[in-house]
Amino acid sequence: MKFTFRNWENPSQVLSEKADAVVIPVLDADVGADSLLGAIDGQLSGYLRQAISEEQFAAKATQSLSFHTQGKLGSTRLTLLGVGKPTGVVPADVRTWTARAIRSLPSSAKVVTLCLRGVTPADAASVGQSVAEGALLVTYQFDKYLSGDRKKRSAVQEVVVLLPPDVSTEAAAVGAQRGQIISEGVCLCRDLVNEQPTEMCPRRLAEVATQLAQKLGLGCTVLGVKECEALGMGMFLGVGRGSVEEARFIHLTYKPQSEPRKKIALIGKSVTFDSGGLSIKTTEGMLWMKMDMGGGAAVLGAISALAQLQCPDEVHVLLAAAENMPSGNSYKLGDVLRGMSGKTVEINNTDAEGRLTLADAMTYAVEKLGVDEIIDLATLTGSSMVALGSTTAALFSNSDALAARIVDASAKTGDDLWRMPLRDRLFDSLKSDIADMKNSGDRYGGSISAALFLREFVGDKVWAHIDMAGPVHAEKDVGHTPKGASGYGVALLCELLAPRA
Ligand code: BES
Ligand code: MN
Ligand code: ZN
Repeated sequence: MKFTFRNWENPSQVLSEKADAVVIPVLDADVGADSLLGAIDGQLSGYLRQAISEEQFAAKATQSLSFHTQGKLGSTRLTLLGVGKPTGVVPADVRTWTARAIRSLPSSAKVVTLCLRGVTPADAASVGQSVAEGALLVTYQFDKYLSGDRKKRSAVQEVVVLLPPDVSTEAAAVGAQRGQIISEGVCLCRDLVNEQPTEMCPRRLAEVATQLAQKLGLGCTVLGVKECEALGMGMFLGVGRGSVEEARFIHLTYKPQSEPRKKIALIGKSVTFDSGGLSIKTTEGMLWMKMDMGGGAAVLGAISALAQLQCPDEVHVLLAAAENMPSGNSYKLGDVLRGMSGKTVEINNTDAEGRLTLADAMTYAVEKLGVDEIIDLATLTGSSMVALGSTTAALFSNSDALAARIVDASAKTGDDLWRMPLRDRLFDSLKSDIADMKNSGDRYGGSISAALFLREFVGDKVWAHIDMAGPVHAEKDVGHTPKGASGYGVALLCELLAPRA
């Protein structure tokens, strides 16, 4: 998809703009007095005002008005996009507007012009980025298993953006490039999560990571079961034991050209299918468990974008990939597993498997890599959804500074999250009589006790944990996210680790 940015000074330019559709975001306060709409109305002999009034278009944030121009404008169609009452044009809104604009097009439209008014010069690059993200992310489709007509992709080839005269089109184009890189990372993540679980097993995930590393010139190490055994990763291996698909520990490294600012580990939960193991889930509970590697997919998408965005930090991506299955070889309730840190864990629920895999990856990051900072993304608990709903992730951190940076980044990218407390007293429910702890605690506060479990393995490192069990998946089309795997976390990590210029 091509992105073109142009400045415009007077309405006649918009009237003569050649495109399959011109889309104009309209503030509700402006509908009556908007001078651009007035000029268009003149060209259409009063038809626009008539349509606005008869269709009761009040430019509310959920409304749009779209019609064929019968050759009276340069563009075949005109769409007014109601945007309600924003206080100024915010780049994050532009992402949503672009996505809505593209959704409003007939499927044949190839060239769409977006007429953005009210953009401030300082936002040029961010607005360019948002346009690219909105367009590329909303047109994503996982269609490899669809046949015939349903395979039809969006026909959009070019998005032209008209900007106010004082906004730099060069800066906007640079921003769009950044948006393109990030969107590719998000779409890679979505593809991995949407894939069927029998295909996207630990071995396949390791292949994808290896290919990605080759393409981007990243360091890549894949450890098999024997090598993980030698490292003492008994918790991670316990989880994978019941499956015919062998576990893999995947480690990608990105090093910046100059001396790194700091050393960061990004750890993604990578349970390629979570049946619950012997504590087996119900059909309903198991239905979406191919998405239990969504954290791992997110950190892979992120490192692919971060390498291209020339992130100033050294980034280590770790995926302890395993399939959680019941079998004659499964880990059992009552088993005591010893992880790489030496700590022992009594298993009281084989469905609380994610924390076991993550814990060994965290120990690896602390002991082997000596990183300064650890961020983990994990579809860890149903409780996080009970607490916050299915579109908001739960953030936990032992550092107020890191938590604040993540909350900030989240507001910009739209990867929604909310900080939750690491309440020490909930750790009581993880106490075991025969081991250092148990792997699952009380039902109440389940996302908190899971985070407290993880905290045991980060030592004194700065750490944040994002429980993304809800937002890994969109139940319906929302904004720039089509139904299905959302790609949650990729844009967030890019915003956090490779900030905009
Ligand atoms: N992968 C699940 C968490 C999950 C649930 C993700 C729903 C997405 C949607 C995790 O491994 C799990 O099974 N957690 C249990 C923990 C419990 C056994 C302590 C849960 O949330 O019920
Ligand atoms: Mn589970
Ligand atoms: Zn799981």
